[in-house]
Amino acid sequence: MKYQTEILTIGYDTIIKAAELLKKGEVVAIPTETVYGLAASALSDRAIKKIFTAKGRPSDNPLIVHIYSIDQVGLLAKNISKKAKILMETFWPGPLTLVMTKKKQVSSVVTANLDTVAVRMPSHPVAFSILEQCNIPLAAPSANISGKPSPTSAQQVYEDMLGKIPAIVDGGTCEIGLESTVIDVSVDPPCILRPGAVTKKMLEDAIGEVADDNSILEPLKEGELAKSPGVKHKHYAPNAEIQIVKGVEVSISRYINRQILNDNVNGVRSVVLCCQEQAKNYPFDKIILGSKYHPETIAENLFNALREIDKKNYDKAYVQYLGTEGINTAIMNRLLKAANHNVIEVG
Ligand code: TXA
Ligand code: MG
Repeated sequence: MKYQTEILTIGYDTIIKAAELLKKGEVVAIPTETVYGLAASALSDRAIKKIFTAKGRPSDNPLIVHIYSIDQVGLLAKNISKKAKILMETFWPGPLTLVMTKKKQVSSVVTANLDTVAVRMPSHPVAFSILEQCNIPLAAPSANISGKPSPTSAQQVYEDMLGKIPAIVDGGTCEIGLESTVIDVSVDPPCILRPGAVTKKMLEDAIGEVADDNSILEPLKEGELAKSPGVKHKHYAPNAEIQIVKGVEVSISRYINRQILNDNVNGVRSVVLCCQEQAKNYPFDKIILGSKYHPETIAENLFNALREIDKKNYDKAYVQYLGTEGINTAIMNRLLKAANHNVIEVG
């Protein structure tokens, strides 16, 4: 182990210490309102490479640069459209990442050689204080081992990053629980590359027509180029196999219960991920996601649930298709990737 990883609790000293480490070119995990991020100076290639190493992230997957003031955008991006400016004013600070044409001085290690850069201003007060204190833009992907569900607590970061980074700032659990919405504003109409808590409707209310990238709810087709490189890599996946079940409610629960029973007879340990309103339909092992009437509770808990599947050593998990209304697009995007698009339609 390279580092003695410390969990730092919130306090003035912690903010100062985190900022000092970051200025020295170290990697520090920080809380944001979406998920925990693995931050390092976006101005230092040496520091950024440490992020890729700690995560085991493929170097062709670019990072999001985090800022605390709209004034910093001008240092990173050029040809900033009117629509991009409206989105910044409407949703920043908050869970929205804008992909813009990059300025020459932005490191190609951050952008994985693309000519665009992704920028976000987080609203979490701790992330904000650290950004302000160190006064450098911070590249920060989600703080998980590449391919695993993103961490939404300091403890989960610790499980993935023990020995790999010097410090984790503990800001409690993340309010939103899913990564930011990523929208490419270097094209017109702007195009959603990754859905999140800022929904398509919210974006369209602000700037009019917005497109969706094909990859949001569909697997990439053979030979299709990913607009957002992250899309083509395995993601959010527990070790267990996941199957998404579509159909009418009663057929779904009958199918899942039958499968769980059969699996167990065959020595396969399986579980259902369900909403609290459906729990009564599932007499066997279950993990509750949240309330279907309050999908933000499902978003908040989704990555915990995916991590719990592995913690409890299940081989297989079934989950009911949740539709794509509002934030459910973001939830289904993560679940479909976790399931490697294994979807079955019943009755
Ligand atoms: O909520 C979030 O966005 C969190 C927190 C820590 O801020 N960060 C995060 O970063 O989720 P990461 O690296 O796990 O996801 C970044 C996504 C990837 O899918 C990546 O491919 C995409 O953004 N991305 C980054 N730069 C891009 C670019 N220039 N063009 C297209 N996609 C880009
Ligand atoms: Mg990630």
